[in-house]
Amino acid sequence: MTAQQPKPQPEVGPSRPAFAIWLGGTNEITRMFLAAGKVPGLINMAGGLPEPDTYPVKELAEIAERAVSKYPQDSLNYPPIEGLPDLRDRLAARFSNADLKLSRENVLVTSGGMQALDLIGKVLLNEGALIAAQSPTYLGAVDAWRPRRPSYRLFSPEKNDFDPVAALTGAQFAYTVPNFSNPTGRLVGLARRQELVDAAHQSGTWLVEDDPYGALYYDGTPLPRMITLSGAKQSGAIYDGPLVYMGTFSKEIAPGFRIGWVIASPEMIGALTIAKQGSDMCTSGLSQRVAVDALDAGLLERTLPVILDVYRHRRDALCAAMEEHLSQWFDWEKPVGGMFVWATAKNPAMDTDKLLSEALKAGVCVSPSSVFDPHGEDRRSIRINFTLNTPDRLAEGIRRLATAVKAIGLD
Ligand SMILES: Cc1ncc(COP(=O)(O)O)c(C=O)c1O
Repeated sequence: MTAQQPKPQPEVGPSRPAFAIWLGGTNEITRMFLAAGKVPGLINMAGGLPEPDTYPVKELAEIAERAVSKYPQDSLNYPPIEGLPDLRDRLAARFSNADLKLSRENVLVTSGGMQALDLIGKVLLNEGALIAAQSPTYLGAVDAWRPRRPSYRLFSPEKNDFDPVAALTGAQFAYTVPNFSNPTGRLVGLARRQELVDAAHQSGTWLVEDDPYGALYYDGTPLPRMITLSGAKQSGAIYDGPLVYMGTFSKEIAPGFRIGWVIASPEMIGALTIAKQGSDMCTSGLSQRVAVDALDAGLLERTLPVILDVYRHRRDALCAAMEEHLSQWFDWEKPVGGMFVWATAKNPAMDTDKLLSEALKAGVCVSPSSVFDPHGEDRRSIRINFTLNTPDRLAEGIRRLATAVKAIGLD
């Protein structure tokens, strides 16, 4: 008998360094519903996506062509970190009013609102810092700040016993989406806006006003921005207060643009600019140049009424379908604007993470409340988007959701 030859062993290299600890804290539900959005036949009511048919394709194509041929320096060079001066000036003028005096120094152009959230986290959060956040909280903000492993103090401005000074004091910053919050679609009323602004001035806490949906009012008159209420408390030549206002063209023109902005004190803009330098150095010059020319051409004023009509009609269609098929199990308020309806189960035993699994089997996708809770505990609500699908598809999506609710087997 010959001795058996040892099997050749696969070559074992040195073990690789582990990924950073914060990556372990991300939630699987987010990945699940992002992947689900691409399944054929599935009705995706989970995202916050605009209707692509509303994009002003022809006008944008002409503006982009002209931007490259007429302004090659702006479009094709590295623009300044803070943004093209022309765009900063246009944004300063757009948001200035009798109470709020803005100049170019108050404006930073960002690569979408998401980058503004990331930069705010970079300049204000040390490891484990405290954030005061409007509850429930935009999932993208929670994701952006996760690497700093912050702790959260959650507050609800709609509650009768809301105490803004207690909510803000001691936090690095407070985060709010006062116009049609993502995820709830709620408005923060004027009195609460004023109280939050007063509390920011009193406590010294930065107050972040994230406003992607401020133009999407379907009924009623828009409420004043908190940064304007803050400007009214100041007498300086330009705004120097504690509000950090964020905007974006994603919901009014098109998200592929990746143009967002921050309006804040020059001190805050300076800090964010340093963070942006180490992040992407600058936002696309082509997108910025197109944005300047689109603003000058009055594109927003022309397209907004069309978008509002489409979305108002879809909101009404969604709420009618919910009334017919979901009212036995859920409560909700019809939102005055924005992109979402937030529905809360009457039965506290509802687990909307489980409902999502059943919904996917039934061919529809909505967002469960756990992803909008920085502590991951809220399992009773769902966020339903109404801007991406036609009224017929929305009605079919809600019928499928009702099938999923029945499969859960709760009263
Ligand atoms: C509340 C809120 N903030 C910020 C963003 C980021 O928008 P964008 O990066 O497309 O400008 C979104 C997008 O849905 C949002 O809902």
